[in-house]
Order: sequence, then structure tokens, then C-alpha cells
Amino acid sequence: MSSTLFSPIRLGGVELENRIVVAPMCQYSSADGCATDWHIAHLGMLANSGAGLVIVEATHVERHGRITHGCMGLYSDESEAALKRVVDFCRRAGTAKLGVQLAHAGRKASSQRPWEGGGALKPGEDPWDTIAPSGLPFGPGWHTPRAMAADDFDRVRGAFVAAAQRAVRIGFDAIELHMAHGYLAHSFMSPVSNRRTDQYGGSLENRMRFPREVAEAVRQAVPRTVALGARITGSDWIDGALTPADAVFCAKTLKAAGFDYVDVSSGGISSDARNPATPGYNVPIAEQVRATGTATRTVGLIVTAPQAEDIVAGGKADMVALARAMLDDPHWGWHAARALGAEIRRPNQYLRSGPALWPGAAPLR
Ligand SMILES: Cc1cc2nc3c(=O)[nH]c(=O)nc-3n(C[C@H](O)[C@H](O)[C@H](O)COP(=O)(O)O)c2cc1C
Repeated sequence: MSSTLFSPIRLGGVELENRIVVAPMCQYSSADGCATDWHIAHLGMLANSGAGLVIVEATHVERHGRITHGCMGLYSDESEAALKRVVDFCRRAGTAKLGVQLAHAGRKASSQRPWEGGGALKPGEDPWDTIAPSGLPFGPGWHTPRAMAADDFDRVRGAFVAAAQRAVRIGFDAIELHMAHGYLAHSFMSPVSNRRTDQYGGSLENRMRFPREVAEAVRQAVPRTVALGARITGSDWIDGALTPADAVFCAKTLKAAGFDYVDVSSGGISSDARNPATPGYNVPIAEQVRATGTATRTVGLIVTAPQAEDIVAGGKADMVALARAMLDDPHWGWHAARALGAEIRRPNQYLRSGPALWPGAAPLR
């Protein structure tokens, strides 16, 4: 039995040994943007999940672009050194290639960690001013952001470039811009959050302008040896807002800017929007995006090995990303390999846990 999920794929100058990706997942465990020992344990573990690529959580390009006080950043020498320590460890300990998601939280910044309530920071919790395309809050009880002015555009664009340069210095194999989940770039693209009347608002092309400018500036700063991609919005799941056709436009724009791949996610633009809860809910959108000829990954309730295999073998996406299923089973890729009859690399220390441990065992489903 030969598995498509476990076949290699090339993204720009980088070859992944399989098509399984650990999705970026905020850990809310950084200290002023700096990765901590938690990240050594968490990412060190996921570097041995059997995934070809692990994407480090949303890593913010400026301090006020963080979602919470615990979010990771890449905006200082200290945060660069802290993340380098984690990446160096993952290289020594694990088998996966490593990527980082660069982000700016926009109007969803200055929030509580999920386990502290997940709402806007209250006056006693050291909140900060937020920025967005327009002065519209994410939902009731959220901060009202300041509409971005000319110097904000220059500063944020520059911060993305500087963070990308730091990521290249750290030695990441892939860099991924966060253009989804209601954060700054997505909030420009969506008509729900962007009511500007200048060249950054109005038509889809205008709403895409700032994300495109960031993408082009980052592309110039990142050598072709590093895979460059973006997580994009497949749907806002709100009538009259972003649709799969808009995702296709976004993917084409990024392809023209020299991007190597996109990841189709969805939702998160407003506090009252809800994502579907059906298995692989973004897959049909990814299929449309993939038709543009862009290497396409997708995410969202992909849980089992046969499901993942079906998505890539059926040509619906080139790669799959998993988030919650990877936290639940950090060796998900090992177990998927066993179920699909594929080989997987394990670290020397764990070699004796290989398939020979289960002669004749029934494949896991
Ligand atoms: C704990 C946690 C943290 C997350 N943090 C991020 C993040 O930093 N960046 C991002 O793009 N998505 C983030 N997500 C969303 C996931 O990457 C993924 O898109 C979503 O959970 C759907 O995939 P799943 O059904 O496999 O969990 C997070 C999800 C979880 C569960």
C-alpha cells in the first residue's frame, strides 16, 4: 500500500518528507514575547510527531500586535534568542522541518488568555491600544481599535519584514504569514471589519492591498531557500462577507507575489460568527483554491489517518494541518504511518517503539 500522505512535497526550496503539518497553536506561555521552557517541551514533542513540518504558534511582529500578554513575539533581540534556543533544540531532538507563523493581532490584540476568560483585557490587566483598518470593535465588550494612519502602515509593514529577517536568522525552513482568524491582515480583507474609503478599502483589490504590500515586502526579505506561505480565509461564514471566491483571489495574489503555498482556514472575523463543526469543513474550499495551481494545505477537523489520506490522495489539498488532534496524540504521524503502511523516522532514543512492537496489530483508525 503506498500512501500519498506520506509522500514528499517540495515548497519552494524546501522538501518536506510528508504532507502532515502541525498547525500553529498559541500557547500563551511566553514571557514578554520570549519563548520559555514550555516551548522546549511542547515543540520538542511535536518535532517528533511524525509531521513533515511543525509551524510555531502565531508569533507577533510587534509587542502591541500580540493577542495576549503570554503570546510569542519576534520583535526584540531577546525574543529572537529565546526562539532560537527552542528551534536549535527541536533540530537536535526531532525529525520535522520547522516553520513559524508571523502575525499581528490587530483589533483582537490586548486580550486575556483563554483560561483567563478570553475577552478584552480589563483596566487592571495592563491593556493596550489596538489598531485595525477601521474603528470597529471585534464584538460587544471588545476594545475599539484606532483606524490605522500612514505611519502605522509603514511601521507594521516594516515590523513584518524585520520579524521575517529574524526568522531567517534563526534558521526556520518555512515562514507563514497569518492572514486569517480575524487578525490584522484578515481584518483588512474582510468587509465586516474594513470600512475604509481610501486605497485600502472598498473593492476586494483595495482591501487586499495592505496584506499584499506586506507579502511583497516579506518575499523580498526571505531567500528562496526558505518556503514562504500564508494562512488565508476560505470563508467568513457571514452572509455578504468573504467567500471561497475571495480566497481564490487571495491565493492568486500571493502566488503572483512569489509565495510558495497557502493554508486554507476560515472564520474568526467577528465574535458572533461560528465555524461549521463538520469533519474537514475547509476541504471543499481548499479544493477550489488548489485549482489556481498554488500548493494548498488545509486545516479544520481533520482527525483520522484515512481522512487525511483521502484529502491528499483525492487531490483536494496538497497537505493537511492538524491542531487539536496533535495535542491529543503528539505521535499522530507515527500512528497514521502504521495505519497507512508507511515508514516514519523516529529519534534514535525511541527506535524500539517502532512497528515491530505490534506484529500483526490491527491498523489504527
Ligand atoms: C490551542 C490552540 C491554539 C491555536 N493557535 C493558533 C495560532 O497561533 N495560529 C493560527 O493560525 N491558528 C491557531 N489555532 C487554530 C488551529 O491552528 C486550527 O486552525 C484549528 O484548531 C482547526 O484545526 P483542528 O480542527 O485540527 O484543531 C489554534 C488552535 C488551538 C486549539
